[in-house]
Amino acid sequence: MLEHKQAKIPTHNRHLIRWVEKMVDLCQPDGIHWVDGSQEEYDRLCGELVSAGTFLKLNEERWPGCFYARSSASDVARVEDRTFICSLSKDNAGPTNNWKDPFVMRKKLKSLFRGSMKGRTMYVLPYSMGPIGSPFSQIGVQLTDSAYAVVNMRIMARIGKPVFAEIDKDLKRVVPCMHSVGAPLAPGEQDVPWPQNETKYIVHFPETREIWSYGSGYGGNALLGKKCFALRIASNIARDEGWMAEHMLLLGVESPEGEKTYVAAAFPSACGKTNFAMLIPPKGFDGWKVWTVGDDIAWIKPDATGHLRAINPESGFFGVAPGTSAKTNPNAMATLKKNSIFTNVALITKNGVPTGDVWWEGMTDEPPAEALDWQGKPWTPASSTPAAHPNGRFTAPASQCPSIDPAWEDPAGVPIAAIIFGGRRATTMPLVYQAFNWSSGVYAGATMGSEMTAAAAGKLGVVRRDPMAMLPFCGYHMGDYFRHWLRMQKKLKRTPRIFHVNWFRKDEQGRFLWPGFSQNMRVLKWIVDRATGKVGSDETPIGWTPRYDDMHWEGLEFSKTQFDQLQEVNHQAWTEEVMGHEQLFLLLHDHLPPEMIYERELLICRM
Ligand code: GTP
Ligand code: SPV
Ligand code: MN
Repeated sequence: MLEHKQAKIPTHNRHLIRWVEKMVDLCQPDGIHWVDGSQEEYDRLCGELVSAGTFLKLNEERWPGCFYARSSASDVARVEDRTFICSLSKDNAGPTNNWKDPFVMRKKLKSLFRGSMKGRTMYVLPYSMGPIGSPFSQIGVQLTDSAYAVVNMRIMARIGKPVFAEIDKDLKRVVPCMHSVGAPLAPGEQDVPWPQNETKYIVHFPETREIWSYGSGYGGNALLGKKCFALRIASNIARDEGWMAEHMLLLGVESPEGEKTYVAAAFPSACGKTNFAMLIPPKGFDGWKVWTVGDDIAWIKPDATGHLRAINPESGFFGVAPGTSAKTNPNAMATLKKNSIFTNVALITKNGVPTGDVWWEGMTDEPPAEALDWQGKPWTPASSTPAAHPNGRFTAPASQCPSIDPAWEDPAGVPIAAIIFGGRRATTMPLVYQAFNWSSGVYAGATMGSEMTAAAAGKLGVVRRDPMAMLPFCGYHMGDYFRHWLRMQKKLKRTPRIFHVNWFRKDEQGRFLWPGFSQNMRVLKWIVDRATGKVGSDETPIGWTPRYDDMHWEGLEFSKTQFDQLQEVNHQAWTEEVMGHEQLFLLLHDHLPPEMIYERELLICRM
């Protein structure tokens, strides 16, 4: 018998109610819980997660309102090889996505979800990506058997009662999102702290705008508003409707004179978006201030005057913990100090007993003397493995960020003056260059390369092409995506300037050539000054680059020799680079816009 956790269903939308009934029949949960999004509900669910052993409450003085979770060792990151775009035609998914026939996949999913929630509660979680009621916003309903997903989603998105009210207005199409950890419980069976299934499927149906996620409780696999909806499904909606859904942070730069310029930046996973979005200007930048709008996703639309405006569809940060410290990212540290959830970091112990305090590599100069690592095993600084998983993360409310922009929830979004692309590249790529124009900028983004990180399961450190940082997130053919980018310009009166950055260039000894983090402000200032026509540059074969004296160096010892090494455009390396571009273009050839080929030819000629 299905147990109803509430006396009254909080929606009268018949489509929604009928769909929920159908999915209850399929998944056979023991109970159903319509999520209202209240604090009381959140507290109760966190309490239940503590009882279940999924959560550990952290020390209330040190970490007020914070919880700690450890995932199963086989559920620690996005699984790109288990992620599918099931468009009607394979051609529409393109060669960079995994495709399966939607009819075949539906059958498979039905069999996986049949009875998958036995012994568990099905949560009906309504959410809005973007401020509720904003013309930018989109609505989803996630049916999930994971309370962990519900409480994380409450931080990451606007959820609950006000979203049901939106759904009841029946103005916007709702994206149905199915999520099961795939671990049904037999009567009386004891649950494990992190239920999951070795078989994982992260599936998107672009035409019917549906998401089905099976077998994982972690991050982007389970918080379906994020990558599944706000990027893979939204990129399809955006293409149809003439806007852009991008893997980009959004920030505003305020000059001492009070002039504010917003920029968007696309870096691949674990390549510095959160850090850049929360940057605090270094010594030498008195009166300058960087404001955070978003750290991972931007929805960008032309307004009535032909300017691009953007919102952050999320309301929280799901940030990489390792490397985050009071030195590298004080704003993140201040954001996560309360009401946050930590997953797969280390738990400090004293004589083997947890003290209710967390730690991760890089958080402090001195590691704790002892801890339990992300798998719960005793750890000391002498251990050969890291204490926190490299993709260990914090989930923290954006509203707690000291640098959060006053306009971060503006339903009209913020105006975008510049777009920045950047990868993790040990060689070849200079610190910064500006593309000559929109189409050469699209080319720079399209051909972007980056070393793979722990954010996805796969080969660490290998350079792969990651167009616009969207390789794992574009929900349709990458060639058509480039065409969509080129077409966007036609809707604009003023096109944002486009830049490419690389914080990660190394010398022969493998040391970073650039101090990075807050010092990235120097690059950001040049970018903003270029976008507003205030500073000069040099012309090189790849684009405009700052001369040493175009950069603001006050407060940092950085010689012209060092700068030249960082900015070097090496012809041999670039020749190889352009060969790499050709490989991508061959893969996409039947959908590749001709502009991309012309841009490549021009680049080769200039070199
Ligand atoms: P996702 O949440 O996966 O999309 O990642 P992200 O792009 O937000 O990356 P994040 O800012 O969390 O940074 C990832 C890693 O890069 C962290 O370990 C940072 O310490 C490191 N990092 C960020 N900025 C810099 C930088 O300027 N220089 C160097 N060397 N490392 C950086
Ligand atoms: C990324 O991998 O780019 C992330 C983390 O932001 S996840 O939400 O897991 O996708
Ligand atoms: Mn990301």
